[in-house]
Amino acid sequence: MELNGTTAIVSGGASGLGEAAARELAKAGALVVIADLSEERGRTVADDIGGLFARTDVSDEASVAGAVAVASRTGHPLRAAVSCAGIAWAARTVGRDGTPHDLGAYQKVIAVNLIGTFNLMRLSAAAMAATEPADADGQRGVVINTSSVAGIEGQIGQIAYSASKGGIIGMTVPAARDLAAVGVRVNTICPGIIDTPIYGDGPGAEEFKAKLAAPIVFPKRMGRPAEFGQLVRALIENDYMNAEVVRFDGGIRFQPK
Ligand SMILES: NC(=O)c1ccc[n+]([C@@H]2O[C@H](COP(=O)([O-])OP(=O)(O)OC[C@H]3O[C@@H](n4cnc5c(N)ncnc54)[C@H](O)[C@@H]3O)[C@@H](O)[C@H]2O)c1
Repeated sequence: MELNGTTAIVSGGASGLGEAAARELAKAGALVVIADLSEERGRTVADDIGGLFARTDVSDEASVAGAVAVASRTGHPLRAAVSCAGIAWAARTVGRDGTPHDLGAYQKVIAVNLIGTFNLMRLSAAAMAATEPADADGQRGVVINTSSVAGIEGQIGQIAYSASKGGIIGMTVPAARDLAAVGVRVNTICPGIIDTPIYGDGPGAEEFKAKLAAPIVFPKRMGRPAEFGQLVRALIENDYMNAEVVRFDGGIRFQPK
């Protein structure tokens, strides 16, 4: 899919992986709509890359419909939707003190990470379906969803997060099959440990990140957000990539903790 002269929408585009993806797609010539809860940071990134900002809660139907409407009215066809909005949560199914996992917290993680991803995918794909095909294959757009290696080998205390990310992996093939009828491809990326604000900052965060990064196979460092942006762009630009779940993790395989 040629990105130059098109519109792309990126949820979570105000920070970390989404920001890096938004910057890369803008470099490729796309007008990028940053759909994020964080208004200040989202506007700054949008201004920086000549894009637009739409304050969005991905778990809310009307909110995402509004953002997709912004992306559909730019005068350039909507061709890419990248879901990066997500939240982390750490709690065991039954805590050490015998307390069961909070149900509201579990529901919130599923609502943002899994339902939010589906919400953006379904509404963007419907908008793409209304555009003219971009090429002789009848292609109209590409959806990139962000899961995690925790969706494959979840660690202790990751039950809610892993369930949400495993759900995104599970949607990949059926979504690609459904959306073939409207010329939309779907791919999912499973990052390992990438250096973004999700881990916080300060000495405690640095120590935590060093511990997480220790089992990375090669290169022996955390991934860089720009490397994620590169992969998003490659998966969009390569027309034969479809229904795929790609690990992006320097070879790490998560241990139980
Ligand atoms: N950084 C990593 O190591 C890593 C690894 C695996 C998966 N991931 C996934 O990648 C995605 C991006 O993570 P990141 O590391 O860039 O985190 P981040 O915290 O830097 O960025 C997440 C962004 O999502 C936005 N957001 C949160 N809830 C939202 C909502 N309801 N609606 C709209 N926007 C919302 C935040 O405002 C923020 O801008 C997440 O889904 C995360 O689970 C990250």
